[in-house]
Amino acid sequence: MITNDIPLRRIDHVRFFVGNARQSAYFYRNAFGFEVVAYAGLETKVRHEAGYVLRQGEITFVLISPLSKEHPDSQRLISHGDGVMDIAIDVADVSSSFQTAVSRGATAVRNPEAIEDEYGIYESASIRAYGDTTHTFVNRDRYQGVHSPGFKPIDADRYSAATAHPVGLAAIDHIVGNVEEGKMNEWVEFYRKVLGFEQLVSFDDKDISTEYSALMSKVVQNGTGRIKFPINEPAKAKRKSQIDEYLQYYGGPGVQHIALMTGDIIETVKAMRANDVSFLRVPKSYYDSLPARVGPIRESIDDLAELGILVDRDEEGYMLQIFTKPVADRPTLFFEVIQRRGSKSFGKGNFKALFEAIEREQDKRGTL
Ligand code: FE2
Repeated sequence: MITNDIPLRRIDHVRFFVGNARQSAYFYRNAFGFEVVAYAGLETKVRHEAGYVLRQGEITFVLISPLSKEHPDSQRLISHGDGVMDIAIDVADVSSSFQTAVSRGATAVRNPEAIEDEYGIYESASIRAYGDTTHTFVNRDRYQGVHSPGFKPIDADRYSAATAHPVGLAAIDHIVGNVEEGKMNEWVEFYRKVLGFEQLVSFDDKDISTEYSALMSKVVQNGTGRIKFPINEPAKAKRKSQIDEYLQYYGGPGVQHIALMTGDIIETVKAMRANDVSFLRVPKSYYDSLPARVGPIRESIDDLAELGILVDRDEEGYMLQIFTKPVADRPTLFFEVIQRRGSKSFGKGNFKALFEAIEREQDKRGTL
């Protein structure tokens, strides 16, 4: 019997490795409404990379770029393009979390270290997840700095909080990984066995093996339900799976999408659209059948149709969601904006409409 004896508190931050962190920071700030709060680089005596810390609500993104080809991760940019390198998880005890994970079969990437600077002690250690993705256990209980050693608050003359325009993104709802065909169960087992997650039964195989979906998905979550990681693998279908397309362009398994929670999806999506974020669109006919499918909802169907927001209902309530197009040139990482009104599910009632929308995009790319 596995108990959840690695007390994972929350997702601390998501670390992206990108070709040009300065310009990515501009994108996430001006399109997604993040505030740029900290910087690391030559000016803060960090010689090998530049980093930006962005924050909105409880969400923290860290964008990193190498400053030379000697950077140990510089090859990632050729293999993967821009993408998520690490999902960092806040834990009460870094050493014991790491030792427990490794003793249960996790691959160590970086042993526990405690770095001390003028702001206190920052502890972290990393293990391998799918592909080149890692999980870092972090503890900042004894650290008062803006993010982690090396980072300094951003210069007010470079980015000021006064000019940030948050769009209402509040927290990370879930982070989805794409893995190779036949590997989904292995990774579900990894999260169960190594990190003490439980598998949710929100999808079963027959729900998702339609001719359109061409993917299989299972969801694991930690004991408190605050950390949710769906895992996808490609499935054989009439058309090339969107997961195969991802694996080809990312050069292996990795993070497919990050779902960001909002308390008011209509206002959030309006603001993001005004900032030129591109979202997937479903046909107007989706909204004709919506009232019959989901019953009464608080939002106006006209508003949802205007913005392209999808709705799904289960026994506990309903949820609203929308997906961006990929945020880089490779058809890899994208984002979801989600608002929950009782439902804890992931929108399986939208799969058909959504996957057809994705297929239209794949068709334009010649990868279907
Ligand atoms: Fe999602």
